[in-house]
Amino acid sequence: MCGIVGYAGPRRVIPVVLEGLKRLEYRGYDSAGVVYLQDGKLIKYRCQGKLSNLEAIIDEAIMAPSHIGLGHTRWATHGAPTTENAHPHSDCTGDLVVVHNGIIENYHSLREELRAKGHRFTSETDTEVLAHLIEENLDGDLVAAIRKTLDLVEGSYAIGVLWAGMPDTLVAARNQSPLVLGIDENGQGSFMASDIPALLPFTKQVIFLEDREFALLTAGDCSVYSLLSGEKIEKKVTTIEWNAAMAEKAGFKHFMLKEIFEQPQAITNTISGRINPESGEVDIPEIGITDEDVRYIERIFLVACGTSWHAALVAKYWIEKYAGIPVEVDIASEFRYRRLIVNDRVLTVSISQSGETADTLAGIRLAKKLGSKVVTICNVVGSTMTREAHGTVYTHAGPEIGVASTKAFTAQLAALFLFTLFLGQRKGVISPEKSRELGQALIGIAEVIKEKLPVIQTQIQQLIESFYSCRDFLFIGRGLNFPIALEGALKLKEISYIHAEGYAAGELKHGPIALIDKEMPILALVPQDAVYQKVISNVEEIKARQGRLILIGTEGDQHLKTITDDIIYLPAVHEDMNPILYTIPAQLLAYAIATRRGCDVDQPRNLAKCVTVE
Ligand code: G6P
Repeated sequence: MCGIVGYAGPRRVIPVVLEGLKRLEYRGYDSAGVVYLQDGKLIKYRCQGKLSNLEAIIDEAIMAPSHIGLGHTRWATHGAPTTENAHPHSDCTGDLVVVHNGIIENYHSLREELRAKGHRFTSETDTEVLAHLIEENLDGDLVAAIRKTLDLVEGSYAIGVLWAGMPDTLVAARNQSPLVLGIDENGQGSFMASDIPALLPFTKQVIFLEDREFALLTAGDCSVYSLLSGEKIEKKVTTIEWNAAMAEKAGFKHFMLKEIFEQPQAITNTISGRINPESGEVDIPEIGITDEDVRYIERIFLVACGTSWHAALVAKYWIEKYAGIPVEVDIASEFRYRRLIVNDRVLTVSISQSGETADTLAGIRLAKKLGSKVVTICNVVGSTMTREAHGTVYTHAGPEIGVASTKAFTAQLAALFLFTLFLGQRKGVISPEKSRELGQALIGIAEVIKEKLPVIQTQIQQLIESFYSCRDFLFIGRGLNFPIALEGALKLKEISYIHAEGYAAGELKHGPIALIDKEMPILALVPQDAVYQKVISNVEEIKARQGRLILIGTEGDQHLKTITDDIIYLPAVHEDMNPILYTIPAQLLAYAIATRRGCDVDQPRNLAKCVTVE
């Protein structure tokens, strides 16, 4: 969703804001804008398209001797991605500006009321209503006007406000949309941003704003208050472990490729220190559930969106198999709107790279209200989900910038396998021998991936020449690899815009087989696992109908050569590790096809990395 950056301090503001926006561009890139205060006037630049378009028109502003300002990259919700709809939005006087992430649900009625009072609107956005409503309520006291305004609005917001009448202060406020403040302890100013990477070049000291809190940021101070009572709130300062270099491309052509290659490290970082390499015994101190809780649990809900939902689907197989606890997997946007049979014997686990996805967050809030314990599997330290859940299992994948998730996904799988072992061991249903076997399988998988990654990349590159221009693609897999078929299809459609679907291989003959002809490419995941023969039968059915097969299977499996020449061989690993390993060629295939088609893989059209609205 939209990215916000704000700064007040001794540096020139525009370079700071642009640097921050560049690191947030994955949140939205259909338009961008900046505003700064100079000689008592607000100077605003806005532009349709990516940040580079904005940079091209603000040459002079870069050197402006201004020390306070705001910036925004937009992911359109209300109104087309035009310059007029780009943020910052101003009031009628032009002396007050607002940047916003979220949705003001009652903006329509508020706008009509404001119009009746003489306010003139220049955009179709919900955000502009905020600027005018603050203006309407402003009587010399900006904080009072903002508090009154936010009391009248319904919906979600993270906002930054700058008013020429209070030239040293930025106001930040949040409700259901993330906002993080940065403080530079060397007296280099105060920052606000919708996500941590924007702050990394400047500071690692951050304060997470909670719902219904606001902050006043000046060059030397960053204080937080309650929107409801107006009282000051003492906030904890958190030190972020990530560094700025982690959020850079490091010589790779795209963030996505860099992040694909970072997967062995991300997996190792996620499991290290949590698993005994000899016994396979797992310890996750921050998990927030006791052994007694584990024994008391009757059912688990795994709740997530997008790629994280695919990780949940894999985990269902693992948890049911090794911990013997029934698992339901839900897409968060469905979970939150159905009648939930949830009580204190249900454990709800949210899986989220960002920890901010609006639907997933709403889902865990609901489950918590119904008495469920909540654990979150999350990549971003201090994110809202980690603050609201009873416990967290962090995936230590480092910042993920590519919009299409890669390393966060395999790190989630590693964390979920750890979680499975934790449950099984605490329940006493995994034998010590099995713990050792599974633990060692998990520990070993990073090395296998590291060794094979360059080889797979080369093979995929050769293979895609005859596939990159197709219109459709099917992915099939069975058992643990069915969710990887879904993930492979999602990756491909996200970044190459080829229509792709994932199916459970056994389900093919109940419909999708009608799509197969000699034009249709089908990627089949066929490791030599418990369901190997079944998938091979499905593959033969495709061959009989002249489908164009790509097979990903086990090294040494000669039978595959009788089916097609397009084969990617992967080493034989423990069957439970196949979903992690088989994800790699699926990601690389999507990457290779998308780049071959000239697509912008890091910023695919219409997508945002972090979906903080419903
Ligand atoms: C967006 C991203 C996906 C991601 C999904 C869930 O749609 O583009 O890559 O899987 O959100 O995000 P989360 O942060 O909750 O894992």
